[in-house]
Amino acid sequence: MEIFVHDTAFMIAYYRAQNELMSRDPFAKLWLRPTLKNWADQFAEHVSPHDGILHCFRNRFFLEELEELSSNQNRLLLINLGAGFSMYPYVLPEHVKTIEVDFPEIAEYKQEKIKKFTAEKKVPTRSVLHKAANITTKEGQQELAELIATYPNSKKAILIEGVFFFLTLSQIASVLSFCRNLLKEGDLLFCVSYETPLETSPVFDKLTTYFSEVLKSEENPFTVLSNSYYEELDSFDLLKKSSSVEVGEHFQGLPNDLNKQDVLNEFFYVLKK
Ligand SMILES: C[S@@+](CC[C@H](N)C(=O)[O-])C[C@H]1O[C@@H](n2cnc3c(N)ncnc32)[C@H](O)[C@@H]1O
Repeated sequence: MEIFVHDTAFMIAYYRAQNELMSRDPFAKLWLRPTLKNWADQFAEHVSPHDGILHCFRNRFFLEELEELSSNQNRLLLINLGAGFSMYPYVLPEHVKTIEVDFPEIAEYKQEKIKKFTAEKKVPTRSVLHKAANITTKEGQQELAELIATYPNSKKAILIEGVFFFLTLSQIASVLSFCRNLLKEGDLLFCVSYETPLETSPVFDKLTTYFSEVLKSEENPFTVLSNSYYEELDSFDLLKKSSSVEVGEHFQGLPNDLNKQDVLNEFFYVLKK
């Protein structure tokens, strides 16, 4: 089997659809297609059986953060970089405006499908702009900056979820520098990454071996970041840190047979400019 980085977005939607109660994403099922179960089964067998439920916890964490933020802000612009088939806008209140950014393969397909789902009343009407751009390039960042400048009076929150693993350290630095320039004091940045200690674990080795075999991409950086990377991030304060396992424990949603050695625990960071 071969997959492209943008195909991973379908897989995450598949995971979220498997446990709507936990993910609180009732729309993930709109992106299902027959090949995804097969891929998820293979991933569970070769890498880790727990990734599905962990992605539900991830969605739950950021949805609740965004719900809290939107309840205090009547002019909120959510900018989701590498948005994939994330469906936050359709669960969040109507007043939230969203810009979703991804490669053209996803952004254009999603835009077309959302138009159809909205007309069929499968999703509520929301103000969502689908922007095709590579977030790591100067041109992509420039186009985005121009687009975002058309929302001058909104409080902004940037979400980068499930993306850093696929970027090099210098690409991550470039994306974060772009965010730093774009955000004003008090705006928020939400990030996700694997933490450095995981890098030497057998389950991470299985993950990188598997992706090296199936992922069609020029570079496979498989980047992990340390907690201190976020603590020391220039111009940002780290407000909160959590992880898939922590959220799972909170909701008593971790499987009884969970062996922590098999867990690809992702860390979640809430930062304030
Ligand atoms: C694992 S998926 C995560 C999707 C979504 N954030 C979620 O959590 O459901 C990674 C997404 O990032 C996108 N992506 C990766 N690198 C990107 C880049 N350089 N520019 C824009 N999108 C990118 C992929 O196309 C894919 O949709």
